[in-house]
Amino acid sequence: MIVAIGSDHAAYELRYYLIDHLKNRGIEVKDFGTYEKKSCDYPDYARAVCSCVLEKEADFGVLVCGTGIGMSMAANRFEGIRAALVGDELSAEATRAHNDANVLCMGARVTTHERAERILDIFMDTPFSNEEKHIRRISKIER
Ligand code: RB5
Repeated sequence: MIVAIGSDHAAYELRYYLIDHLKNRGIEVKDFGTYEKKSCDYPDYARAVCSCVLEKEADFGVLVCGTGIGMSMAANRFEGIRAALVGDELSAEATRAHNDANVLCMGARVTTHERAERILDIFMDTPFSNEEKHIRRISKIER
């Protein structure tokens, strides 16, 4: 599995924490920064990660900012991206099983590092259900 990850300054530490965790799990990581703590614009990192996912150079994207809200707004502007802003374990599972989400967004100011790690694990380990009703609903989003 390959995961593309990006953050703004507000989630700089969380991004490195999640990168360490992914590497410990033997997962290949494509890190798009930010590489410094100075204030920066989250849409730039959303664009880089979403492009990587859309070009099929990563299986999933992970985008973290202060709340996760800006990242999810930016990511969902890209056709073919289904970005989910997640702050709990149930939603992490449901958004993979029901929505076939391909980008996980989280907020470093609202979610602990440990919970973000658990959410990420559940997200990556849950397959899409492939149920007809979910396929139909996703295709309605795409249209
Ligand atoms: C940065 O201060 C903050 O606005 C950003 O990280 C994010 O929370 C936006 O949605």
